[in-house]
Amino acid sequence: MKKAEMLVEGKKTFDLPIIIDTMGNQSLDIRNLRKQTGMITYDPGFGNTGSCQSQITYLDGEKGILRYRGYAIEDLVEHCDFVEVAYLLIHGYLPNKKERERYADLLNRHSLLHADMQSFFRRYPDHSHPMSILAAMAVSLSSFYEINLEEDPELQIDLTVTRLMSKMRTIAAFSYRKMKGTDFVNPSYTYSYCANYLNMMFSSPVVPYEPNPVHVKAMNKLLILHADHEQNCSTTAVRLIGSAGGNLYSAVSGGICALWGPRHGGANQAVIEMLDQIYQDGGDVRKAVERAKDKNDPYRLMGFGHRVYKTYDPRAKIARETCEEVLKELGKRDPLLDIAEELEQVALEDDYFKEKNLYPNVDFYTGIIFRAMGIPTNMYTVMFALGRLPGWIAHWLEWHHDPFERIGRPRQLYMGPTARAVPPIAERE
Ligand code: ACO
Repeated sequence: MKKAEMLVEGKKTFDLPIIIDTMGNQSLDIRNLRKQTGMITYDPGFGNTGSCQSQITYLDGEKGILRYRGYAIEDLVEHCDFVEVAYLLIHGYLPNKKERERYADLLNRHSLLHADMQSFFRRYPDHSHPMSILAAMAVSLSSFYEINLEEDPELQIDLTVTRLMSKMRTIAAFSYRKMKGTDFVNPSYTYSYCANYLNMMFSSPVVPYEPNPVHVKAMNKLLILHADHEQNCSTTAVRLIGSAGGNLYSAVSGGICALWGPRHGGANQAVIEMLDQIYQDGGDVRKAVERAKDKNDPYRLMGFGHRVYKTYDPRAKIARETCEEVLKELGKRDPLLDIAEELEQVALEDDYFKEKNLYPNVDFYTGIIFRAMGIPTNMYTVMFALGRLPGWIAHWLEWHHDPFERIGRPRQLYMGPTARAVPPIAERE
C-alpha cells in the first residue's frame, strides 16, 4: 500500500495511506487522522474532501470529461433517451430492449397521483414558486406511499424508486398547471416519458395539442445532461439525509431544496433573467462583464464558473449545440441567444475570466432551449430537478449499500467565546 508521511510540529511523523481510484487519482486516507494526531482538517466548501467512494459518475474538471457509469455524456446524449440513462444510473447498466420496454411500462403504471394529493396543489398561493411545491410534494409522497422495510426491503426500495421517477414528473407538470390556474391533465399510456410530461403541461380541452418531436428530443437531451454530476451540493444533501437513515422521498425533497439555490440549479432561471436584463438595457454585454469583475459589486455572470470544471463544461457545449439546433428546427430566432453568444465570447477573452478559469456551465444555454419550448422561467429549475432525479436516487442507493457507510457529520473549528459565566439579567448591558 502507498503511504504519505505527515510531519506534525516538526517532531513526529505519521503515515497516511494513499487510496488510488480506478482512474489513477490519488487520495490521502485521513480516516484515522484525528485518532493518530489529535488534529482534524479544515476544508470549507469541501473542495478537497472526498466524502465517499462512488461508482456512478466520473468527471475530470481539467479535461472537461463527464461519464455516467463509464459512458461519455456525448455518447449517451447521441444514442440513448432519458429513460435508458435513468435506468443506467439507477441499475448500473444500460437496459436491453426488453428491460427498456418493461421499465417504460412500469413508469407508466406508477404515474398517477393519489387524488387527495391533488388538493394540496390547489391550496398553494398562485405566486408560489414551483420548486417549493415540488419539494413539499416529494416528501408528502412518503405519507401516501409508505415504505415498509420490514416486509421485503429490496422490493420496497425498488417500488419507491419507480414511484419517485414516475410521480415526480406528474407533480412537476401539475405545479405548472396550478400556476396557470388550469385543470390537471393525467398521464397517458400513449406517450413516452418526455412526451407524456409535455402533454400533462400543455394539452388543453379547447386547443389541439400534440407534443412536438423537436421538443421531445430536446427535453430528452437536457434531462440526460442533468442526470448526475457526482458529489454536487444537492446530491451531497441527498446522501447526507440518507446517512441519517432518512427515506428516499425525504432525501430527494432535501435535494430539491438545495438545487433551488441560485448558485446551484437555480442558476438556469437566473441566467435568462440576466440575459433579458442585458437585452432590455440595450444589449451591452461588456457592461455586464465589467460589473461581474467588480469586487464591490455582488453581481456575477450567471451560468459562468464551476467548482470542478476549470475548462469548458462538456454539458454546456452540448447545450449550446442543442440550442442552435432547436431554434433552427423550430424556425425561431431568440435575441437572448445572440446576447449569450456575445457575452460568452467577451468573457472568454477577458483576463479576469481567463485567470480564474471561468467558463460557461450547463445552465448558460439550457434556459434558452426551455424558452423555445414554451416553458416559463420559474419552471427551469423544476426541469433540472426532473433530470437530476435518477442521479439522486442512484446516490441514495449507493449510500444504502455502502460498506463504509457512516452518518455524515463533519467537525468544525470553534472560533467563538471561551467559557464564561452567565451574568444576572440586571448586570447585562
Ligand atoms: N462571475 C464572476 N466572478 C466569478 C464567477 C462568476 N460567475 N464565478 C466565480 N467567480 C470568481 C469569484 O468571485 C472568485 O473570485 P476571487 O477568487 O477573486 O474571490 C473566484 O471566481 C472563485 O469563485 P468561487 O465562488 O470561490 O468558486 P466556487 O467554486 O466556490 O463557486 C460557483 C462556483 C458557485 C458555480 C460560482 O462560479 C458561481 O457563483 N457561478 C455563478 C452561478 C452559477 O452559474 N451556478 C451554476 C453552477 S453549475 C450547477 O450548479 C448546475
